[in-house]
Amino acid sequence: MNNVKKSIEPLRGFRELTPEEYKKKKFIIESISELFEKYGYGEVETPTVEPLSLIELKVGEEIRHRMFRFKDLGDRDVVLRPEGTISVARLVVNKMKNEPLPIRVSYVANMFRYDEPQKGRYREFTHIGFEHFGSRSVVSDIEVINIAIEALKKIGIESFKIKLGNEAILRKILSEANIEQKEQDLLLGMLDRGENEEFFEKLSRKGEEKILNVFRELMKTKENSVGESEQTLRKILAGFPAALEEYERVRIIENFLEWKANGKYYFDFGFARGLEYYTGIIFELYVPELSVAVGGGGRYDSLCKLLGRDLPAVGFALGVDRLMLSSQVKTAKQKSKKVGVIILEEDAETIKYTFQVVEQLKEVENLNLEIDTMGGSLGSKIERALKKNEEAIVIIGKKEQTEKRVSVKRLKDGVQKSFSYEELKEKILEFIEQ
Ligand code: HAM
Repeated sequence: MNNVKKSIEPLRGFRELTPEEYKKKKFIIESISELFEKYGYGEVETPTVEPLSLIELKVGEEIRHRMFRFKDLGDRDVVLRPEGTISVARLVVNKMKNEPLPIRVSYVANMFRYDEPQKGRYREFTHIGFEHFGSRSVVSDIEVINIAIEALKKIGIESFKIKLGNEAILRKILSEANIEQKEQDLLLGMLDRGENEEFFEKLSRKGEEKILNVFRELMKTKENSVGESEQTLRKILAGFPAALEEYERVRIIENFLEWKANGKYYFDFGFARGLEYYTGIIFELYVPELSVAVGGGGRYDSLCKLLGRDLPAVGFALGVDRLMLSSQVKTAKQKSKKVGVIILEEDAETIKYTFQVVEQLKEVENLNLEIDTMGGSLGSKIERALKKNEEAIVIIGKKEQTEKRVSVKRLKDGVQKSFSYEELKEKILEFIEQ
């Protein structure tokens, strides 16, 4: 018996949502989708199953080991997508060749990672993301950061923190020491996993004392606003003109954040993200209720080139399942009234007449109708209506059907009134609200 019970549970880390839970998810997705549309991001769809070779290109070590991968019946190596940016980039490169730049696209999609399940960490979860292709300008970086902040606000989250870093600065320093891109990826992967000691060890093994010190200094700037430590940073980066140039972009972003997210952001120049495609600004969003990020993104200027077109890009994805755990998210209060529909005699004509009434009432705004299909006495039907918090019940029996009338009972005071079929639509709300 126990075994049977166990085998019908969902797999670890996979979720089932009740209507109440799903309502919150839907609210988050619909609110944020509306925002994307406002900023010109058109929604796209990409496959759930992708060739391993595509995703492996740039997904990074950390996620590479956590993918649901298998051979399909055609003996192809495939994966359940662990993220959406690579697939969306391919779609833009292949299918949107003639679109004027920049190309703005958004998506809502489920992702799969074999992460260790815990609060806010699942093996299947939903991203709501958006990507901006074609622009190298810092304006596009700022647009993406701005929308990410707006998305939180749109669903009621006012208390949050943005953590920013810059992989271009890190990569430019590593390049000065002639460290190739593949090795840079490995080193930044270490920073992503918080393996700072290993990172320094590897650099020191390479005899790179100069950049070793630069990294040590850079990491000390953590949690400081750039403004406060601007002079220090300029000093640290003095010997690296390319990194210094990137730092000028950071200053512009900070100038924007001082206005948009004053007191809610910090830069950490020892911060790297697990995905390998980032080439510039990177950032993550946090809410106080959770220790893990509710969203992450950044600039990735070389991914599209790998897929066939040289398009710079910047984007961001929010983890819907994590947002659902934030107590700050308040779904819009339900304005609609719940009304039950009770059929007294279930004969062919009365049933048909009931559905005609329901069809008419569907046109009344803010009215939700639930037909009682459970049978039993009128008393038990009313009891059920009360349990479901219905405000009124529409009662239809043989008598109502033959006279083309409808009885409505207000549940708060038990008052009942009869309406003609024609007048019902106009008068029902007024009666319920009396
Ligand atoms: P990511 O940071 O790996 O970025 O994922 C984005 C968000 O998905 C995370 O901040 C988190 O909220 C959520 N998430 C990640 N893993 C899990 C999990 N196991 N359970 C629940 N939620 C999770 C990306 O995937 C990039 N594609 C974002 C991006 C878009 N970069 C540029 N454009």
